[in-house]
Amino acid sequence: MPAVIILGAQWGDEGKGKATDQLGTRAEYVVKYNGGNNAGHTVVIDGEKFALHLLPGGILSPGCTPVIGNGVVVDIQVLFEEIEELVSRGMDTSRLKISSNAHIITSYGRKMDALSEKSLGDKKIGTTGRGIGPTYSDKVSRIGLRIQDLFDESVLRSKVETALAQKNILLAAYGEDTFEVDDVVAELLAHAERVRPMVIDTVLEVNNALDEGKTVVFEGGQSTMLDIDHGTYPYVTSSNPTAGGACTGTGVGPTRIDRVVGVAKAYVTRVGEGPFPTELLDDSGDWLREKGGEYGVTTGRPRRCGWYDAPVARYSTRVNGLTDIVLTKLDVLGGLDQIPVCVAYEVNGQRAEEVPAIETDFAAAKPILEYLPGWQEDISNCRTFEELPQAAQDYVLYLEKISNCRISSIGVGAGREATIVRQDLLG
Ligand code: IMP
Ligand code: MG
Repeated sequence: MPAVIILGAQWGDEGKGKATDQLGTRAEYVVKYNGGNNAGHTVVIDGEKFALHLLPGGILSPGCTPVIGNGVVVDIQVLFEEIEELVSRGMDTSRLKISSNAHIITSYGRKMDALSEKSLGDKKIGTTGRGIGPTYSDKVSRIGLRIQDLFDESVLRSKVETALAQKNILLAAYGEDTFEVDDVVAELLAHAERVRPMVIDTVLEVNNALDEGKTVVFEGGQSTMLDIDHGTYPYVTSSNPTAGGACTGTGVGPTRIDRVVGVAKAYVTRVGEGPFPTELLDDSGDWLREKGGEYGVTTGRPRRCGWYDAPVARYSTRVNGLTDIVLTKLDVLGGLDQIPVCVAYEVNGQRAEEVPAIETDFAAAKPILEYLPGWQEDISNCRTFEELPQAAQDYVLYLEKISNCRISSIGVGAGREATIVRQDLLG
């Protein structure tokens, strides 16, 4: 029955991959609506680890149709690298569908990403360097290339000429090598015939699936606090990971969505630059990073770590209209005597209950912490809420209250099976 959006409720890497994969085993469609191969989803199936960047989570579930929606930016080289990797490990990727309107990440897009970061110097965003920002910039500037352009060489060439006329001036001004139209066109055409069979009108396909009562999961890349409109601008990605992005990024109207699920870690991490009120710069930050294996799937960068942030959780509940939270990595917090939770901020000497609307206020926000009792037991084999130690149950119930949203599922380990389900997300 339901159409469910799954998105990140914090700064990314909350474990959306596992959550999407779990629903993907029952969903008939998993539709990715934003971002590109800046994402990094780790899925563990029977002890085997799969790292996905561009491909939707449902690709690993037989019987599920994975769809790359119009809101996604596609690096075609990476697309085939990921497909080939999965095929070599015995997975079937032939069901993949791609929107004809999705924009293409080009070699000059990747170059502009690096150049932009370099020119920002110590104000750099800390991007993943995958060309995401410049590709969305070109889309908004109306000089982008779309998947459908691959199938008409004269259209493609003309659009590459238009884009390079601007890029090459900029590149030359920075003293960088410029790009040749012929090279870029050849690079893109090299893959065109392989892409063609996957390309369809995904808007029609997904809406038809909903008309037929199929179960559709909309998978968000990145996260609420990295949203171009609602995140910690300018330290954000260039798309809309928030719930509205699922509609614009797939061509599905908001009235068709039944549920919006936010994935939140039992603590918080962030990669790249930008404000992070509960960040731990001491030993406890290192402890969380090592215990939680907090290193980027895409870039290998060590993640910044901090305690659960209730104002961020409430903000996320609000801007996404969350119906459920999937809480992940609760097991990582085992072994602490007490667990700090940020319940509000102190901003310029005043208590602030909610995420401040002004960038500089958020950057100055200091966490006001409450301390909850910890637990010492290994909880990774718990499969019901009641099996959890009392302190772990109380921690979850407390987070539920201060996040303004029910916690429907709790992750206690990496595997598909290491999950406590309190409420069926597809029921
Ligand atoms: P971009 O998306 O590569 O432009 O990077 C912009 C910001 O978003 C940087 O701070 C990245 O570290 C962050 N970011 C992008 N994708 C992810 C992700 O999948 N997980 C966590 N952070 C991400
Ligand atoms: Mg990730």
